[in-house]
Amino acid sequence: MSGTDRPPVALVTGGGGDIGRAIALKLARMSTAVAIVDRDEAAARATAQLVEQGGARALAIRADVSLAPDTIAFVEAVETRLGPIGIFANNAGIEGVVAPLHEYPDETFDRVLQVNVKGVFLGLKHVLARMMQRGTGAIINTASTSAIRGRAGLAGYVASKHAVLGLTRTAALDVAGTRIRVNAVLPGPVESRMIRELEGQARDGGIALRRSNATAHGRPQDVANVVAFLASDEAAHVNGAAWVVDGGTTLA
Ligand SMILES: NC(=O)c1ccc[n+]([C@@H]2O[C@H](COP(=O)([O-])OP(=O)(O)OC[C@H]3O[C@@H](n4cnc5c(N)ncnc54)[C@H](O)[C@@H]3O)[C@@H](O)[C@H]2O)c1
Repeated sequence: MSGTDRPPVALVTGGGGDIGRAIALKLARMSTAVAIVDRDEAAARATAQLVEQGGARALAIRADVSLAPDTIAFVEAVETRLGPIGIFANNAGIEGVVAPLHEYPDETFDRVLQVNVKGVFLGLKHVLARMMQRGTGAIINTASTSAIRGRAGLAGYVASKHAVLGLTRTAALDVAGTRIRVNAVLPGPVESRMIRELEGQARDGGIALRRSNATAHGRPQDVANVVAFLASDEAAHVNGAAWVVDGGTTLA
């Protein structure tokens, strides 16, 4: 939390998607208000409506996290309209395509890195600039178990999630000595649009995505619960962590 008396304002990027929606709904219980950013405006609004139905304030904003002007604008809009951002779930991401590396399209590689790496960097940069002025806040970047494992056919995605972990660790060191914390959550496959898309493409291309003994996918709420913990004062001594949420499947 923000460490102030009032519950903090939370910001969730990719809040129109499966995991972002679950995070927004969970953070709504520990926040004054939740801002939902997504390039899909209808999806952002749908999440905002669910948050409001739960009794919390919500603000939906259409923006592309990979663009600096969009990021600067949504951070400004959230702070002006709702108040200081105390919790930031830096969650928006795309999967790219499934293809062996020697056939992986250059433009897909560039786009995946633009959204998943540059987008996470821009969010960190512009939210941290505000948090550093106040000396308090919690940021949770959504990485993936693809940040610590290879995965056949997913060159862009795996490279991008390794980079998210690198950004998390660097930011955590940059804020050391303050009451700001930057952590990463690393979900394994979650029951979601993204995983259905990837598994469908992998099946069509004859590529085995799984390299673990996974028996079941997680649920978006499983990820949201850990994000809420990392955002809370209970996690006051957790900084720079890579918190795996995969039912233990990457152990094998
Ligand atoms: N689904 C999984 O199994 C899984 C596993 C590990 C990690 N993740 C990560 O979790 C995060 C959320 O994934 P999800 O499963 O909810 O996927 P999703 O596709 O349901 O949600 C992603 C959301 O991000 C939005 N988005 C994409 N690019 C954007 C951009 N440039 N600007 C703003 N919004 C943008 C999309 O419109 C979408 O609403 C991603 O970072 C993903 O890589 C997902």
